Amino acid sequence: MELADPIVRKMRELARAASEQAYVPYSGFKVGAAVLVEEGELFAGCNVENASYSLTICAERNALFQAVARGHRRVLAVAIYTPTAEPCPPCGACRQALIEFGPDVEVFSFGATAEQFHARLSDLLPHSFSSKELR
Ligand code: THU
Repeated sequence: MELADPIVRKMRELARAASEQAYVPYSGFKVGAAVLVEEGELFAGCNVENASYSLTICAERNALFQAVARGHRRVLAVAIYTPTAEPCPPCGACRQALIEFGPDVEVFSFGATAEQFHARLSDLLPHSFSSKELR
């Protein structure tokens, strides 16, 4: 999957639109995410903060859980958008949540400028904890 692919551009636009819905009264840091599942559908999410700070959910997990709640179990890619100069990589918790549904997930991060970040999740979270540890 390339940054120039139409589906990746669509994911960027979905993530950007989702970032406008971010509920961020505490950090002011808006994040939007779009997840592509193997069936070809896209799911978007934004970060939602809480006065009890630790209850905050990141945009990536919000999007991921919406996909899972609709029955999807295989994620191919995630796009993250922040209205910042630098693209924002996914936090560690979101890396772990995403890898449950695909070690090969491709991660695309976009800022408001032309700068982009593209990586494979397995490179962002090597030696990750998984179900095989539970056997
Ligand atoms: N945030 C995300 O939505 N995704 C990330 O990968 C990193 C952080 C959110 C959580 C919080 O609402 C704000 O950004 C500042 O940490």
